Amino acid sequence: MKVAVLGAAGGIGQALSLLLKTQLPAGSDLALYDVAPVVPGVAVDLSHIPTAVKVTGHGVDNLADALQGADIVLIPAGVPRKPGMDRSDLFNINAGIVAKLIEAIADTCPKALIGIITNPVNTTVAIAKQVLTKKGVYDKNRLFGVTTLDVIRAETFVAELHGLNPADVKVPVIGGHSGTTILPLLSQTGLSFTDEQISALTHRIQNAGTEVVEAKAGGGSATLSMGQAAARFCLSLAKGLKGEAEVVDYAYVETDGADALFFAHPVKLGKNGIEAILPYGPLSAFEAKAKTDMLPGLQGDIQLGLDFVK
Ligand code: NAD
Ligand code: LMR
Repeated sequence: MKVAVLGAAGGIGQALSLLLKTQLPAGSDLALYDVAPVVPGVAVDLSHIPTAVKVTGHGVDNLADALQGADIVLIPAGVPRKPGMDRSDLFNINAGIVAKLIEAIADTCPKALIGIITNPVNTTVAIAKQVLTKKGVYDKNRLFGVTTLDVIRAETFVAELHGLNPADVKVPVIGGHSGTTILPLLSQTGLSFTDEQISALTHRIQNAGTEVVEAKAGGGSATLSMGQAAARFCLSLAKGLKGEAEVVDYAYVETDGADALFFAHPVKLGKNGIEAILPYGPLSAFEAKAKTDMLPGLQGDIQLGLDFVK
């Protein structure tokens, strides 16, 4: 198993790489790429941790080496938000960064599973689809927007409210990864909530990214929780690639378009990425209205990405 992290010297990249160094299956390769000159040092630093995962560092001229033979590529490269910004304000800088990295993936490891973390995820995943399509290598079963952070936040906040161990709480989160496009399905947790609790929890999950951005006061956005979320998702992808049975996780993927071209669903993962997009099940009246209300915004975000490459 080879995993490449693009943007590995950043806040997410370093946390994620640490978790992968300690949690990837023995014998795996972990390739770290970044334009920041510190990246070889990050790789040397991690390489002193005694696990059977080989870490290599790749600077700005060595992207192809980092990608050569990769089974999974995770992309947290790009700029994060500052207070007062929306994720869509990152589009001007991050769209071009993602497009260039995806071009290199198409040229070097077109069969890799790609997990996009760079914001605005609602849009950057659509950009990736277009670049891969132009290169003639697009496979919708191998492209994922990483929305696991919404899932782990929902688990944490619901567990806090009910005094439960978060490990025992499961909260589906569907839609996209920005504001009201993030839709937690509290009705499917098997737990009881008042209407006020549903409204407050939904709002907190949708705005949790902003909660971190404001608390960091100009120092960036979520990095440590995102590192954990991306590592968890990567391990699900790896289990699927290894042929483990019944690997299901949530991700923002290309669908039949019933809601939007890209929409976070539960997906069954296997040796070729997505084996099946699973239905997200029945929605409460509150969730159904929230979904209807957010769809035009999400569809607009996606169209922006599709048009960027045209
Ligand atoms: P950061 O600034 O700490 O790190 C970004 C890294 O990307 C830096 O090391 C930088 O050198 C590198 N980089 C920039 N351009 C590059 C390029 N062309 N190729 C390779 N590397 C490049 O930022 P961060 O906090 O790690 O956040 C990264 C991105 O992840 C942001 O866009 C942020 O909004 C997003 N994010 C997404 C989620 C999510 O749930 N999907 C959660 C948190 C943050
Ligand atoms: C998050 O949800 O924490 C990330 O998308 C980063 C952000 O800008 O909020």
